[in-house]
Order: sequence, then structure tokens, then C-alpha cells
Amino acid sequence: MIAPEGVLARFRLDGKAALVTGAGSGIGRAIAEALASAGAGVVLCARREALLADVKAGIERAGGRAAAAPGDVGQRDALADLAARAAKPFGAIDIVVHAAGLNHRQHADDITDAAWDEQLEVMLSAPFFLSRHLVPGMKAKGWGRILNIASLQSYRAFPNGTAYGSAKAGVVQLTRHMAETWSRHGITCNAIAPGFFQTPLTAAIYADKERIAFLEKQTAIGRNGDVADLQGAAVFLCSPASDYVTGQTLPVDGGFTAK
Ligand SMILES: NC(=O)c1ccc[n+]([C@@H]2O[C@H](COP(=O)([O-])OP(=O)(O)OC[C@H]3O[C@@H](n4cnc5c(N)ncnc54)[C@H](OP(=O)(O)O)[C@@H]3O)[C@@H](O)[C@H]2O)c1
Repeated sequence: MIAPEGVLARFRLDGKAALVTGAGSGIGRAIAEALASAGAGVVLCARREALLADVKAGIERAGGRAAAAPGDVGQRDALADLAARAAKPFGAIDIVVHAAGLNHRQHADDITDAAWDEQLEVMLSAPFFLSRHLVPGMKAKGWGRILNIASLQSYRAFPNGTAYGSAKAGVVQLTRHMAETWSRHGITCNAIAPGFFQTPLTAAIYADKERIAFLEKQTAIGRNGDVADLQGAAVFLCSPASDYVTGQTLPVDGGFTAK
């Protein structure tokens, strides 16, 4: 039976506290803005504080609530402190979105130890270890949301994507493991696998018009993504509307992987 207030009420995030990593730019920024527009108080994390201040100001101008918690999620020893700082502005974190990411695009023959370690640490290890610091607070409430960001490269081997793709493939399985471990406590874990979106991360690809046209043709819809295309799926997977969805990776890729 539909609740008297209607099903859309289950997509609201009023009273929830969210932490979004990678929130200074691109996909993380768009998701942070979406969560704030659905009512969450959003804590923004990335390394560049000026970008976080800009995102915070934009959310507040739109009538939302945001705070900055600058940090480097690649520093595993600093994640406990980040989790503690994130709980200050709006209370214990209910929702965490792991959108921090980078792509060094090195040929497998030339990948350096440092580049391999950084990509695996930021995109695979941090979503696990940061979540683990936040889970006790979610368990205490009997509700929580973990949202990871996977990729087309979770499934496909793109040129110069060995480290990035290995991290992103790991994200899909990590999503299942975190779901298996914590869903009984009301804490779901899901991921979104975006197709191609124009952000600073993909600037090198967008500079190549032929490649972009080729990638557009790989989609069923006939165009690459706009970060706004991710916002509805993110709010769904971070809200009570998705209470019975866990361990899943949702492609938001214009049908790229359907073809
Ligand atoms: N764009 C696409 O087409 C696409 C497709 C599939 C998946 N993705 C994934 O989506 C996520 C977001 O990517 P994007 O395209 O939005 O890229 P982006 O615009 O370059 O944003 C990346 C964000 O991550 C932050 N970040 C990087 N390293 C960090 C660290 N060590 N600690 C904290 N924050 C860090 C960056 O801020 P600072 O540099 O200030 O720290 C920035 O805010 C990534 O996981 C990416 O792999 C993107």
C-alpha cells in the first residue's frame, strides 16, 4: 500500500547527514548538490578547499545545507579523523558517497608503483576503510547508505586503464561484500557505473572529437552523459526508496553496456 504522503516522500532525505568524497568537481559535486536538494545536510570532502567552498556556496544559495571537510582519502591513517570531522556539522553520517577518483592512464608496461598505489587506494581502499569508520554510527541508527562509483571500466579493458580498471572492477565486488556484511543492520551498499561524462577527469578524452563521437555511437541513446543524468539514480540509492536494493551496481551509461 502506498503511504498516505505518497511514494515521492520516500525519496526525501530531510534530517539525513551525507558525506560525499570528490565533491569539489564533476560527478561528486553533482551528487552532493542532488542530495542537498533532496533535504540532506551534505559534508563535502576533497583536497582543494577553494573548490569545496564554491560548491558549498552554490548549495546554500539554492537553499540547501552544506559544510566542507577537506581531506585526502588516499591517506588511510587520516580516515578516522575525516569520519569524526564529518559528523560535526549535521550529526552522525547516514549516507556516504565515494566519488573521489583519478586516472593516470599509464600503459601497463609503464605504470609506476606510486600511480598504481594511489589509484587503488583512492578508488578501492578508501571506500572500504572510510565506510568502516562510519558504519558504527549507521548501525546505531539502524539505517545507512553507502554509494560507490564504478565505471564502464569495471567490465571492459580500455587502453591504458590497467590500474584504473582494476580498481573499478574491485569496486563492483566490494559493493557486494559491504552489502553482504552490513545490510542486516539497515545499511545498504550499491554503486553507480557511469558511462562517459564530461568532467576534468575526462578532459583528455573530450579533447579528441573523433573519440567522443565514437563513444556517443556506442550508447543506445546516442549521446554521452551530463552529470545531471546521475542525480536521480544517486538520490534513489541514497534514500529510503531503495531500502530493499543492496549489493547492486546500476549502469547509468545511456545504454552503452546494453549494446
Ligand atoms: N567522468 C566520467 O566519465 C566517469 C565515468 C565513470 C566513473 N567515473 C568516476 O566518477 C568519480 C568522479 O570522477 P569525475 O569524473 O567527477 O572526476 P573529477 O571531476 O576529476 O573529480 C574527482 C574528484 O575527486 C577528488 N579527489 C581526487 N583524489 C582525491 C583524494 N586523494 N582525496 C580526496 N579527494 C580526491 C578531486 O578533488 P581534489 O583533487 O581537490 O582532491 C575531485 O573533487 C571517479 O571515481 C571516477 O573514476 C567518472
